[in-house]
Amino acid sequence: MTSTRSDIQDIETTLLLQGIQQTYGYDFREYARASVIRRLRKFMRDHDLPTVSALQNRVLHDSAAMSKLVDTLSVNVTSMFRDAEFYQALRKHAIPRLQTYPYLRLWVAGCSTGEEAYSLAILLHEEGLLEKSRIYATDFSDKNVQRAKSGIVALKSMKTNTQNYIRAGGHRDFSEYYSAKYGQVIFKKFLSEKISFAQHNLVTDQSFNEFHVILCRNVMIYFNKKLQEHVMHLFNDSIAPLGFLGLGVKEAIFPTSFRKLYSEHGDGTRLFQLVN
Ligand SMILES: C[S@@+](CC[C@H](N)C(=O)[O-])C[C@H]1O[C@@H](n2cnc3c(N)ncnc32)[C@H](O)[C@@H]1O
Repeated sequence: MTSTRSDIQDIETTLLLQGIQQTYGYDFREYARASVIRRLRKFMRDHDLPTVSALQNRVLHDSAAMSKLVDTLSVNVTSMFRDAEFYQALRKHAIPRLQTYPYLRLWVAGCSTGEEAYSLAILLHEEGLLEKSRIYATDFSDKNVQRAKSGIVALKSMKTNTQNYIRAGGHRDFSEYYSAKYGQVIFKKFLSEKISFAQHNLVTDQSFNEFHVILCRNVMIYFNKKLQEHVMHLFNDSIAPLGFLGLGVKEAIFPTSFRKLYSEHGDGTRLFQLVN
């Protein structure tokens, strides 16, 4: 039996992902394979590597190349108040319940460069809840975490961010939340001091607290069903009774047996509440 080129590439990819997991602890083995292969090919083109085995040789011996590969494999697209309807649903359905607690813990899992965590801080501030809140914003990419911690975003993204803020139900002057300098924007300290940024890997790390709100939006879309199930178990171990779980618009609770534990608020906004 002769193997085809694509069979060989599949074997090489499996070996590469296993090697990365054993060497660095990053576990991409259960990420959606088609998307992983697309990104590996891009990395190989950009770095002039003819085969997946050549790529393996490079990243296993060079941790700087490995960090670059993590950047390529993690899709970082984000924006403030992304999917404005989701934030409207949060205001309408979650805030009244959150107002009844003396202290709030919120987890933004897969926070990318921080925009989602700052959006949440702004929403809590406007609803009078920021003072009693602590937001934990995590990502497995150290580069993302460092960027998020800096509280800096590009000035050119602020037009979209401001439009999203207004569509999400914001009614203040958005510029009161940041100062702009040299083509960049930095969020005000009263927002950033309420957010703890840290590295956390949803595949390999454990639950670290109990949260009234967990947002994990546009992250699990890159995982296969087995990994989505693993992450849902992690969230189930981390969510407080009657806590809220926000997923991305194209994401669903998996496995289906978990669905009866949650009720969905809003019209397809993917804001769930643990009810059982
Ligand atoms: C498309 S971004 C979504 C950002 C933000 N949640 C949003 O909806 O705008 C996906 C993020 O998930 C992060 N990510 C991917 N795999 C992860 C893992 N295993 N653990 C933690 N974060 C992960 C990526 O680094 C990236 O920042």
